[in-house]
Amino acid sequence: MSQMAPPIYLDYNGTTPMDAHVIEAVRPFLETEFGNPSSSHWYGIVPKKAVETARRQVAGLLDCSPGEIIFTSGGTESNNHAITGIACAFRAKGNHIITSRIEHPAVLEVCRFLEGFGFETTYIPVDEQGLVSESDVEKSIRPETVLITIMHANNEVGTIQPIEKISRIAKEQGIVMYTDAAQSIGKIPTQVSKLGVDLLSIAGHKVYAPKGIGALYIRQSTTPEKFCHGAGQEMGLRAGTENVFGIVGLGKACEIAARDLKKNMEHMKMLRDRLYDGLFCELGQIKANGHPEKRLPNTLSVAFKGLEANRILE
Ligand SMILES: Cc1ncc(COP(=O)(O)O)c(C=O)c1O
Repeated sequence: MSQMAPPIYLDYNGTTPMDAHVIEAVRPFLETEFGNPSSSHWYGIVPKKAVETARRQVAGLLDCSPGEIIFTSGGTESNNHAITGIACAFRAKGNHIITSRIEHPAVLEVCRFLEGFGFETTYIPVDEQGLVSESDVEKSIRPETVLITIMHANNEVGTIQPIEKISRIAKEQGIVMYTDAAQSIGKIPTQVSKLGVDLLSIAGHKVYAPKGIGALYIRQSTTPEKFCHGAGQEMGLRAGTENVFGIVGLGKACEIAARDLKKNMEHMKMLRDRLYDGLFCELGQIKANGHPEKRLPNTLSVAFKGLEANRILE
């Protein structure tokens, strides 16, 4: 019987396989280095050092200080903590949040949850290329606005939002600015100093690290409410024994992403455009969704004239 080739995997915004170097880096923490990083005895030394190395590696990709990185279980948890942490900390100042209509459910559902506790949310629409307008954001600001949360890049069409401009507006108005960067790390530059954000989240499994690990950048001057109460790990914000294996994997993946970003961006863009050209040559009537230039280099969303998405998937 002839062997079928496995299907070609194109869903890298869904998840990525682990990088071989990441697997190599995490192996000791699966096999022998099982110690608790909080232990003051011998077994805690290597895991503790490994967690701090990973913190520096993540900080290197985001261009921030390692003390501004908190490890979490992934993008969803980072989004929950960032939004509820700021909402709770600033409740006395106001109860208004601004977000966009195209955020991941891990942002939209948190806003809806907070609405049950008296918060109000403005959901900014996007234009036909998937872009949020910074002037729409500015017009939505109220005296009681405490948080603006707009994703860096969209997971489906890949449109990259004008985060730098929105951050500038937020700063002028004294409002905390957060961005969900789960889809942008390793694909486009994500230096927090350039983006001007106060908080930013990342998800390990989108960047060749294991699943179930993520991180949250919190600018030193920003003070969210504690996320997880307990024994004081992660600067006292997110208590709980660290996922050392995941953290080491995320650190290594971020180191690789930072090192290879330029090369990878060119390679992904070349493949993305080649796929589009091939589809166009074979099928003709297709149209790329999202913004023609402000778009993730790895992301291609295509509309086929006269055909519904479900029919094509079938
Ligand atoms: C934009 C965005 N934010 C958040 C998440 C959630 O991340 P995680 O799967 O690590 O919880 C995803 C995952 O698809 C995403 O695409």
